[in-house]
Amino acid sequence: ANIHDILAKQELEFNDLVALLAATGDDRKALFEAAARTKAEHVGNVVYLRGLIEFSNVCRKNCLYCGIRLDNKEVERYTLSDEQIIAAARFALENRYGSIVIQGGEITSPAFTLRIENLLNEIKALSDGKLGITLSLGEQSEDTYQRWFDAGAHRYLLRIESSTKSLYNRIHPNDENHVYEDRLEALRLLKKVGFQVGTGVMIGLPHQTLEDLARDLMFFKEIDIDMCGMGPYIEHHQTPLYAERESLMPLQDRFDLALKMVATLRVYMKDINIAAATALQAIDKIGREKAIKVGANIIMPNITPGVYRDSYKLYENKPCTDESAEECTGCLDARITLTGDEIGYDAWGDSQHFGKKQ
Ligand code: 5AD
Ligand code: SF4
Ligand code: FES
Repeated sequence: ANIHDILAKQELEFNDLVALLAATGDDRKALFEAAARTKAEHVGNVVYLRGLIEFSNVCRKNCLYCGIRLDNKEVERYTLSDEQIIAAARFALENRYGSIVIQGGEITSPAFTLRIENLLNEIKALSDGKLGITLSLGEQSEDTYQRWFDAGAHRYLLRIESSTKSLYNRIHPNDENHVYEDRLEALRLLKKVGFQVGTGVMIGLPHQTLEDLARDLMFFKEIDIDMCGMGPYIEHHQTPLYAERESLMPLQDRFDLALKMVATLRVYMKDINIAAATALQAIDKIGREKAIKVGANIIMPNITPGVYRDSYKLYENKPCTDESAEECTGCLDARITLTGDEIGYDAWGDSQHFGKKQ
């Protein structure tokens, strides 16, 4: 089918999504233009900031692609103190970021649940409710989700990584800690508790096809997500999946495919929040800006205290590990202005999609 016919459709089907992801030349350009128009019309040309606090690189899991997996003995493990987290939250507030994201490896214990709960209460008090709070702390029990929600977190990010079960199983150990169905169940529970739910996938994984990615997009719609973060897979030499690097497509192609995923998702789910993933910038210096041009409307500047940034390396060549939060803020302002969008300072910038469901 002709690309313009596809883009004019009310409801995209599987074959349409595959065609959009495969688009090259003028067709690719038409996709990007359609995504930019959809963004302007449905969410506006505003980029919202979520100050990213990389809470801890301690993780109980062993995802085969991830640099901070449990069995990587070469990473120095750290956990931020309460004071450091509070200071980062205060920094976000003072710099008019509307929201923060507290992200870390998966830790599950009653003490951990309580610690996060206490931190949430403290952050809520210090910001007088002005800071939106997103959590990205892996799979937890329903009770833990509920307690964190009640303590003031209102969004949760948990990537499905790949919605194709066979591929999910190829990139995770096949043990009781990495069960595809558990991940699905976690996403269901988060929604039930009342969170705005974000998920996402890695793009350019070994053995991943355009059909897999089209299915991922359909999965997002099926479970009716509010937010999405997806970026290129970037191999890390201290991980098992590094052994499969020969079968990967070139980094530039993974980058381009990630842009097409963002653009296609914008056309497909018009009013959700889509993040310009940091991993894009590991490949292309203006990668995040390019994603903003084709549909992304969220950026997550790193506000982790500088000394720890180098230790939170999920993938190699991660940007901003040498910068301080102050440097990133100034840099981002200039970068986003160059895209032609404005920054949504002092605003939560919630998913409009979620808002319409309430
Ligand atoms: N390349 C790209 N993204 C990665 N992540 C983990 N390891 C890598 C990698 N090597 C992503 C996962 C996870 C998110 C926090 O980081 O998708 O959900
Ligand atoms: Fe842990 Fe997340 Fe890395 Fe998996 S991807 S090892 S859960 S930090
Ligand atoms: Fe970190 Fe530019 S965003 S230095």
